[in-house]
Amino acid sequence: MRQVKVLGLLGTGVIGGGWAARALHLGIDVVAMDSKPEMEAWIRGAVDNARAALSRLTLAPLPPEGRLTFTTDLEAMARQVDFIQENIPEQLELKQRILAQASRIAPADVVIASSTSGLLPSDLQRDMQAPERFLVGHPFNPVYLLPLVEVVGGRATSVAALDAAARFYTEIGMHPLRVRREVPGHLTDRLQEALWREILHLVNDGVATTGELDDAITYGPGLRWAGMGTNLIYHLAGGETGMRHMLRQFGPCLKWPWTKLEAPELTETLIDRMVEGTQAQADGRSIRELERLRDEYLLAVQQVLKQFDLGAGSTLRALEERLYERSGRGAAVGLDAALEAGARGPVRMLDTYVRPEWIDYNGHMTDSRYLQVFGDAMDALLRWAGMDDAYRQAGRAVYTVESLVRHVAEAKALEPIYVTTQVLELDDKRIRLHHSLHRRRDEAVIATATQLYLHVDTRAKHAAPFEQPVHAKLERLRTAGAARPS
Ligand SMILES: NC(=O)c1ccc[n+]([C@@H]2O[C@H](COP(=O)([O-])OP(=O)(O)OC[C@H]3O[C@@H](n4cnc5c(N)ncnc54)[C@H](O)[C@@H]3O)[C@@H](O)[C@H]2O)c1
Repeated sequence: MRQVKVLGLLGTGVIGGGWAARALHLGIDVVAMDSKPEMEAWIRGAVDNARAALSRLTLAPLPPEGRLTFTTDLEAMARQVDFIQENIPEQLELKQRILAQASRIAPADVVIASSTSGLLPSDLQRDMQAPERFLVGHPFNPVYLLPLVEVVGGRATSVAALDAAARFYTEIGMHPLRVRREVPGHLTDRLQEALWREILHLVNDGVATTGELDDAITYGPGLRWAGMGTNLIYHLAGGETGMRHMLRQFGPCLKWPWTKLEAPELTETLIDRMVEGTQAQADGRSIRELERLRDEYLLAVQQVLKQFDLGAGSTLRALEERLYERSGRGAAVGLDAALEAGARGPVRMLDTYVRPEWIDYNGHMTDSRYLQVFGDAMDALLRWAGMDDAYRQAGRAVYTVESLVRHVAEAKALEPIYVTTQVLELDDKRIRLHHSLHRRRDEAVIATATQLYLHVDTRAKHAAPFEQPVHAKLERLRTAGAARPS
């Protein structure tokens, strides 16, 4: 299957818009197709809205944002993309017809995935050409912030297509969860619907309001669920003997039973109670306001989980590691070639551009981003020298002792910039670097930084000598750049 550089979207509503924002942010071009021309303005607005939140998901060096184009012509879209994600309304016959049409145009090595919430992949792929490249890739709203995507194959789906889809979803920062066997509703919507049925019963029976039932989740189980699922949490609930004791203690309740399987009838009274209840909870706030609030806390929760390497935080951590690795790899190739060719003086460590969210009220790159860019150059240099995630996991790292930044000129939004770096001093525990930040359009230096770093044993919490191979590479760089910075 193909490496994905251009993503095709079939249907650009709530879910299509979310896919577009996520893919563009991670450097993938998007060709969005919707039968309604007015959806072009809608998807561009959705991408702009999502950018505010996405830009704060990670500080890792991102590739240049992808390019978004829009068309109402399904065939034009299907002809030029490497992967198609279908997001049209949840109607079996409509999806079957449109997927079959797309499959007649898109070459057989283009994966076609459906965002369907519950339809079976075997039914959806029935009339397709090359149905082995079809699967379900079920995301969650907002697609640009939630990493989960359920990957489900049908009877005709090939393992190669499932692997390729999982690789692509991982590449754009998601957690592909392979569903072993197709079942209506996949996994997550089955679980969500079970809970929702109980909510409808409890509201219908007048036991609780929608607000009280939401409190029953957000103040308790909801907090646990972000990091550990129901099963691991119940294992803890059983005390020292874990799940076995838990099942002995609470197993009998399953016979009472506490819950009902069938959903209640959706009568007008029940519908009114649900609508009035949620309106009271919204308390005058618009859907947009509530979406912004939701995005803010989803970002914050993922940042916290990252520290614990748990759930969605592990996915974010892995994405950042790949982004730093990719940026470092580019620099390392150039650096090795320059040293091989006997280059002297500063070496190019980082190529990036001024992202729009880095701009201050004067229209220039804001102060704190200079340190970020110099930090990314330092990260690339350390990776080249062998100090990667594994090195840090082994309890070795460098800590910043001192940073002196001089601002010389300005950079505006979207300007390409690059950093060159020189090792000024190196001993067995310390390294002093001099960075210059250049504007690519005229090569002007817009800022410089001199930084001192200390190599530490993070477990013993004191300074420690660099590992010998790392020191040898840094020494090679010091010798090559021995001239003082101008
Ligand atoms: N909304 C959610 O929370 C959610 C979550 C996960 C998955 N899904 C699934 O994603 C899919 C889309 O859901 P949505 O909420 O984005 O729906 P939506 O109604 O917001 O968007 C559907 C889009 O498809 C377009 N469309 C309709 N027929 C078309 C055609 N023949 N060709 C091209 N475009 C066409 C519509 O114009 C519309 O813009 C559904 O299968 C749904 O089950 C939804």
